[in-house]
Amino acid sequence: MAKKTLNDLGDLKGKKVLVRVDFNVPLDKKTGAVKNDRRIRAALPTIKHLLDAGASVIAMSHLGRPEKATPEERKNLTMDKVAAKFSELLAVPVTKAANDVVGPAVTAAAAALKPGGVLLLENLRFDPREQKNDPEFAAALAALGDAYVNDAFGTCQNDKDTSMVGLPANLKAAGKPRAIGLLVAKELEIIDGLMTEPKRPVLGIMGGAKVSDKIAFINTLLAKVDHLLIGGKMTYTFLKAQGVDVGATRVGDEEIEAAKPLLAHVGKKITLPVDYVAAKSDDLLQTQVCEGPIPAGFEGVDIGPKTIEHYKAQIKDSATIIWNGPLGWFEQTAFARGTQYIAEAMAASAGVTVVGGGETAEAAEQFGFAEKMTHVSTGGGAFLAYVEGKKFQSLAQIDDK
Ligand code: 3PG
Ligand code: MG
Repeated sequence: MAKKTLNDLGDLKGKKVLVRVDFNVPLDKKTGAVKNDRRIRAALPTIKHLLDAGASVIAMSHLGRPEKATPEERKNLTMDKVAAKFSELLAVPVTKAANDVVGPAVTAAAAALKPGGVLLLENLRFDPREQKNDPEFAAALAALGDAYVNDAFGTCQNDKDTSMVGLPANLKAAGKPRAIGLLVAKELEIIDGLMTEPKRPVLGIMGGAKVSDKIAFINTLLAKVDHLLIGGKMTYTFLKAQGVDVGATRVGDEEIEAAKPLLAHVGKKITLPVDYVAAKSDDLLQTQVCEGPIPAGFEGVDIGPKTIEHYKAQIKDSATIIWNGPLGWFEQTAFARGTQYIAEAMAASAGVTVVGGGETAEAAEQFGFAEKMTHVSTGGGAFLAYVEGKKFQSLAQIDDK
């Protein structure tokens, strides 16, 4: 069944719409400034649509993990800077609600909203009930508005978040309108298309650190793609699992166990790098390109030049390319080549190019290639989970059934 979309919300004139967005953006550790506003920009079409239809918007999001933060870090997790950025990008004043997520001051601010007005609630996770699907917290949020929109693709996999599941469930029980926003609709449509009828040949590119975290995703990809290229830290897990000496590269036993069942695909669907850059652990300026074992004291930090050329050729020959996970330690300029060249080759491809969110999206953006991709997902964990075919509780609350 097709999900309810904004057009299903009915007449929005004078209505107050609760919009769950994912403004969980990376922050500068020292200043708390918004380091990357991609997730905020991605939500703007929905917000504008609602305002143009005569509604007011009560936007809400979590930011970071305040429950694990020190008191000092927690100060940076208020929504003040996000609200300022949101207002700047939307070019509409945004009122940042009181410091409590719900309560009399917030109720008053919501009641005072006029059509075209925008209120942003405080960090939802400042209320410990947010991550417990708490019915009372859901009711308090629901009381603020008339309708609900989920445009928080990056958080859709969280089954216990009140604002994602309990809140729309509350509106559902009351027969109030709910819908997915334009961003969620676009993410679902693109990923559904990728998984059902991709143009062939389909190439998967997997990087990042942990095989164990991505094992379900890798298995799903293996069933869909024609080729799967490996890069990033997980390269050394595969190598070690094959019995290759990886020097000082740290690879946990659990990771090796996760990689073992995949070894049967190596040389068939799975391609491992043929060379890699290794850096001396206690002096990163000392590097060498290795084709076999990595010498003692050195660790793998990027894919090597032959691998880059080979992967670029594969990208050129593919009609659909799905990329998740950096190919090397791209935060270090000296070890960013693999990630940068792969992003560049994808950007130049005439095929369908999709980048899974999180770090990979940041890398594509950092190198200036994000706009040239068919789609850069705003979801990290959500992208992986949706590709794996997980059914999201959050989206189930949007449907009437
Ligand atoms: C994300 O960035 O993964 C989402 O915003 C969800 O945040 P979480 O991983 O802290 O639940
Ligand atoms: Mg996450």
